[in-house]
Amino acid sequence: MRSSALRALSRAICLTILSLALAQTALAGEGHKRPDKSGILLVAFGTSVPEAVQAIDSLKAKTEAAFPGVPVRLAYSSKIIRDKIAGEGIVKRSPAQALADMAAEGFTHVAVQSLHSIPGREYTDIKATAEAFQAMPKGISHVSVGRPLLFAPEDIEKTAQALLPGLPAHKKGEAVVLMGHGTEHPANAAYSALQLALWKHDQNVFVGTVEGIPSLDDVLPALKRKGVRTAYLVPLMSVAGDHAHNDMAGEEKDSWASRLTAAGITPKPVLVGMGSRPEMAALWLDHLKDAWKELGR
Ligand code: CO
Repeated sequence: MRSSALRALSRAICLTILSLALAQTALAGEGHKRPDKSGILLVAFGTSVPEAVQAIDSLKAKTEAAFPGVPVRLAYSSKIIRDKIAGEGIVKRSPAQALADMAAEGFTHVAVQSLHSIPGREYTDIKATAEAFQAMPKGISHVSVGRPLLFAPEDIEKTAQALLPGLPAHKKGEAVVLMGHGTEHPANAAYSALQLALWKHDQNVFVGTVEGIPSLDDVLPALKRKGVRTAYLVPLMSVAGDHAHNDMAGEEKDSWASRLTAAGITPKPVLVGMGSRPEMAALWLDHLKDAWKELGR
């Protein structure tokens, strides 16, 4: 009788010690938990044209102003651009390199904002990179990715409405032709969706792309049918970079400016990137704010 009571008592003491020890371990674990550290990573395609960098810098400055005290980093998603400017002594991080830096610096929550126009290859690559970092042990525990400009149907409508007031004023016989990049990726359809959204408000604003559809071959006949004599050419890209300077406004025979001239239409190139337009910068920032909310910040 006495010995069984003792046994019960000693078991109770053991359990108490054990649970105290466990609590101690848990506390110690808690003590080692990294403090939360939040940041933002902007990912632009990048540019090799020095005067176009200003559009990206201005987007970064606007982001810093909208998120006071939050570190804002920048990466270029294009390896071709990174390699090209590295030859000129300008070093830019890839999205993976930038996230690796942030992981090493103890960031736990990072909102990544794509400064691309459509959810094409660059965007899906950023998504995959961000997800890989989130899955990595002791990596950045929370990574969210903000939508590019032309993502959901409501983004396309918002872009059309935001874009129109800032475009060059065009009277009868004049038109505005936007130059998007274009791709073989299915997301290329966003350009046609934007065209329809723009036409709801203004029948004289056209969307073409350098590498996808609609192309200038699709836009030119429409301009002629409408009797357009003057066309403002505006890049539909975050920067007025190489495509804008050469494929759009360049002097080569196959540039859009030269092809319009050959068709009897006076081209008026406007070398301003979307990132330099405050109304468009505000849209990218709205998407970043959504990504930030997703982090629970
Ligand atoms: Co290109």
